[in-house]
Formats: sequence, C-alpha cells, structure tokens
Amino acid sequence: MSGPILFLDSGVGGLSVLRAVAERLPDAPLVYCADSAGFPYGTKGEAEVSARVAGLLGRLTERLQPSLVVIACNTASTIALGYVRPVLPVAVVGTVPAIKPAAETSVSRVIGVLGTEATVRQPYVAELSARFAGDCRVLKHGSAALVEAAEAKLRGEVVDSSVYRGALEGLLAQPGGDRMDVVVLACTHFPLVAEELAAVAPRPLRFVDGAAGIARRCAHLLEGRNWPGARAEGIAIFTGGIAGGAALRPALQGFGLQRVEDF
Ligand code: DGL
Repeated sequence: MSGPILFLDSGVGGLSVLRAVAERLPDAPLVYCADSAGFPYGTKGEAEVSARVAGLLGRLTERLQPSLVVIACNTASTIALGYVRPVLPVAVVGTVPAIKPAAETSVSRVIGVLGTEATVRQPYVAELSARFAGDCRVLKHGSAALVEAAEAKLRGEVVDSSVYRGALEGLLAQPGGDRMDVVVLACTHFPLVAEELAAVAPRPLRFVDGAAGIARRCAHLLEGRNWPGARAEGIAIFTGGIAGGAALRPALQGFGLQRVEDF
C-alpha cells in the first residue's frame, strides 16, 4: 500500500504520537482518526474496545489504503493489538507503556504508570513490568479525568489544576509513592498535559512516554519510501461528526492537520 500513515485514537491523545512521527518523517502524508463516537476507551470493557478498534481499522484501511497503521492509544493497543495485527493487510505499530525506558533510568527503583483505568488493569502491563522492571516497585493509577483534561486543553478551555494534582496523587499516595522518581505517561493524552503535571508535582519527577520509540519504528518500517513533493495536507477524521472537532481546529492545525472530515 502506498497511502498515508494512519493514526487511530479515541480522541486527541494520539496527536502526541503523530507529532513525533511527523518530525521524523517530514514528507509522509498523515491521516489522524479520532474515534470520537467511541470516546473514551479507558472506561469501557475489553470486548467493546476490541470490537470498535478492529471494525474501525478494517473500514479505514480499506478506504485509505495506508502504508502503515499506528494505534496511537495505549488502551486500544494493550487490549486489541494482538487481534488486529493478523487480520489487517498492513503493518500495525502499537503504543504500549514505556515501562522499559522508565526502569532503565529510575534511581529509586519505584516507578509510576499513569494510564487509563482499562490500560492499568491489562495483563500486558503486568507482563511488561515483570519483564523490564522486575527489581522495581511499579505503582499504577488510572485517570479518566486526566484524559478529559487533555481534550479540554486542546479545545482551548481552562482546566483546574486540581485535576493534575489528583492524578499524580493517585500514584504518590500509594505505599512507596514517596520514593517514586519516574512516571510513565501510559496514555497518549497525557504527554499533551506533561507541563501541567510537572507544575503541580511536589518534587521533580521524570515523565516518559513512547512517542520517540514509535517514530523510530515507523521510520524503520517505511525505510526507502519516498513521498515526492511537499507534504500533503494532514487530515483529521472524526467518527462522531465534524461538529465535535470544530473547537479543536486551531490545535489540529498546530499539529499540521489542516483538513477535518467526517467518517
Ligand atoms: N489516548 C488513549 C490511551 O492512550 C485513551 C483515552 C481514552 O480513555 O479514550 O490510552
């Protein structure tokens, strides 16, 4: 397939991944799909998330013939990656919690995983912790409010700082939380509010996410591919209707997505 790189998330979170890929592959055409009709994923059950993601990616892939699919969502990736990979006719890159780089840099050996409620309960996360952070205490916390805060920020709304404080407190208040030095932003919405989280942290914490690694992986998979001419206009697709995307237009343009379409 010779089409664009296709990104999928429930909302705007995947833009944190798109940004890293766009920097690495400046000429690649990009299509970003926000499954706004299914937002949020993090409070839904596994079967529902799997069915949505598989159905939507099947339809999008048929229509757009992408060169590569990036599931720019930890919730969808930790739940559905294993189901969609074998059935899609294109390579699929997932977004999984950056537990490995967090464990590599933690001095205190206490790391936090801040994701959605659905992500932090996935066996995938327990497996990553056992494999890459076996000698660390791994604290987990799911926050739907933080997902909403990132959406609101990109719509240009003011978010009360208690939301950020509350999300961090969910980790810091756990046994061992006083020694936590690295926090994995295990939801793609959260790097969009990393500055706000850092501003309310009671002491300096290191925040890590997987975007740079995903960009490297995309560049590797698409090595040798040329996209002649200037980069095509980026396209944002909303499954819940364009109206829902209207307030996001300025933010979308900041990420190079000039066109907004319905799906
Ligand atoms: N951005 C998504 C993630 O990385 C989830 C947000 C949601 O709850 O829909 O997990």
